[in-house]
Amino acid sequence: MNVMTQVDELTAAAPANTFVETVTTVQHYTDSLFRFRMTRPASFRFRSGEFVMIGLMIDGKPLYRAYSIASPSWDEELEFFSIKVPDGPLTQHLQKIKPGDAILMKKKPTGTLVNDALIPGKRVYMFSTGTGVAPFASLIRDPETYDKFENVILTQTCRTVAELAYAKELVEETQNDPLIGELAKERLQLFTSVTREDYPVQGRITTLIENGELFKHLGLPPLDPAIDRGMICGSMDMLKDTKAVLEKLGLNEGANNKPAEFVVERAFVG
Ligand code: A2P
Repeated sequence: MNVMTQVDELTAAAPANTFVETVTTVQHYTDSLFRFRMTRPASFRFRSGEFVMIGLMIDGKPLYRAYSIASPSWDEELEFFSIKVPDGPLTQHLQKIKPGDAILMKKKPTGTLVNDALIPGKRVYMFSTGTGVAPFASLIRDPETYDKFENVILTQTCRTVAELAYAKELVEETQNDPLIGELAKERLQLFTSVTREDYPVQGRITTLIENGELFKHLGLPPLDPAIDRGMICGSMDMLKDTKAVLEKLGLNEGANNKPAEFVVERAFVG
């Protein structure tokens, strides 16, 4: 298969409504996870938490998948977090990208995991599994999130300990960031759990909300619809089950045109 990676060549072949951007850094975490950063078009605006369609030109045809933007809206570059699937139509090629390679990005960002889709509250819980942490990587680095909420709690659950590396590094980077570091040190908490290896906290996030272990570890009271807000990003099953748990506790699902107590992102990279 031929993947077009030269910026000039791809620019000439790119479909309308598409940007051609250049990869700046690539970092591999495990056999199945990596992140990359690329240039950001000067005219490209988005709200932290949104996603875009990212693609490659394969055998003369563009192939896209939805990717949450992991960088905050003020960042001069764009960052993405991706799985690697050996026979995945896009990720089998995307995992081979190097700095200098060209990538396609559709011009219109969208998504429901945005601060505007939540009604005001005291705390926001960002529940993620696997690469579902990506939109939260954007939101925890956005000062607007701290304007809106006193406490920001990011939860990340993965099958293995190695898969937690990105979230841990991200929170550390955020807490040392010149712009957002002071706020994040005081008001951002990371909670991690693992489901298929030994780890101090084991279990799915749904179980840990229901049995109260999450709140015991955080030193916070159980979820209260009057002050707690939620954002959920993970696999389809995780979204469905976490949504059901929050609804049982009295939180309602919101959207851009109807803000409420929690939001769910259904565009998942699989
Ligand atoms: P588990 O190991 O018990 O399946 P995946 O890679 O399949 O998306 O899983 C990522 C993480 O999400 C794993 O820790 C997995 O736990 C967890 N998970 C999978 N399905 C659900 C679900 N329906 N509700 C909550 N967590 C889930």
